[in-house]
Amino acid sequence: MSSVITPTIDVHLSGSDLRRALEHDVRAGLTSRPKQIPPVYFYDDRGSRLFDEITRLPEYYPTRAERSILDAHAKDIVSASLADVLVELGAGTCHKSRLLLDAMQSTGRLRRFVPLDVSDTTLWEAATALSQEYPGLEVNAVVGDFHRHLGHLPIDGTRLFAFLGGTIGNLDPEERQRFFTDLGEAMASDDRLLLGTDLVKDRARLVNAYDDAAGVTAEFNRNVLHVLNRELGADFDPARFEHVARWNEVDHRIEMWLRSTEEQHIHVADLDLDVEFAAGEEMLTEISTKFSPGPLAAELGGYGLVVESMWPSDGDEFLLTLARRA
Ligand code: SAH
Ligand code: AVI
Repeated sequence: MSSVITPTIDVHLSGSDLRRALEHDVRAGLTSRPKQIPPVYFYDDRGSRLFDEITRLPEYYPTRAERSILDAHAKDIVSASLADVLVELGAGTCHKSRLLLDAMQSTGRLRRFVPLDVSDTTLWEAATALSQEYPGLEVNAVVGDFHRHLGHLPIDGTRLFAFLGGTIGNLDPEERQRFFTDLGEAMASDDRLLLGTDLVKDRARLVNAYDDAAGVTAEFNRNVLHVLNRELGADFDPARFEHVARWNEVDHRIEMWLRSTEEQHIHVADLDLDVEFAAGEEMLTEISTKFSPGPLAAELGGYGLVVESMWPSDGDEFLLTLARRA
């Protein structure tokens, strides 16, 4: 019987890298029109816990829909690849990774798991739990940014790169282009990409998923203000910002905004920055793009990624796509 292998952790984002990026992004975002803050800053420990709560809300269907595809097809997915290494980008709590790990284990090929995330505590807790649950599995956690560190991942073995949850939808078109280009360059010819995308659907179902009755998504959205207060000495009063979730018909995306309930002045001490919000002014905090299978395959093809298979969930709510390098 295999014994437990202590997980390792590679840190590509030091505290000072994170700090520099945060200072740059917040200064740029609060002085742009409309004001905006990148969604990566939602995910401190509290934000990661709130996201985990979101995944269990009755209105938030994507996690259940993606899990149902993995329940039905994880074996088909792993047998369509020769992978002995699972790399998961934006892995978070790694709840869904287990379905892929189990399927890989059943092929007898599973050797290593490489979860990458910016949220170091969540990542480390998940890595520790997984190495206990899968004796003999090498768990090599990577604290990194999928916008910057795809070229720094371990290259031994044949890799299945999983990017689940629909997180690709949180990137704008320019970021997506850079992401797929970087990933294509990092992938070898036997490697595969498993991409989870949420699909375009009825507008009410989409909006409700981002504006739940219990207000958990609203708290998740406002959490970014707590992060800016703590990390940069800002004086946001989260109670003076309302959660807004809106469907953008043109760009096929849900947008989350924070709307100032009144005219207010914000001071960000560590940036020596003063910012005015007009009553009703909105700040963009997240986009969540929704896809359709045909255009998605065409977009991937444009980045040199060839679709091998697509698995939609029942009712075509969510889609898993397996692709290789051209
Ligand atoms: N894959 C999980 C978690 C999705 S939540 C699921 O499907 O449920 C999005 C995850 O991506 C969070 O864990 C967050 O910390 C991480 N994340 C967000 N932006 C990131 C970035 N730029 N680089 C790396 N991880 C990021
Ligand atoms: C992580 N990501 C795919 C989630 C989404 O649905 O876009 C984040 C989220 N935002 C609000 N609810 C969930």
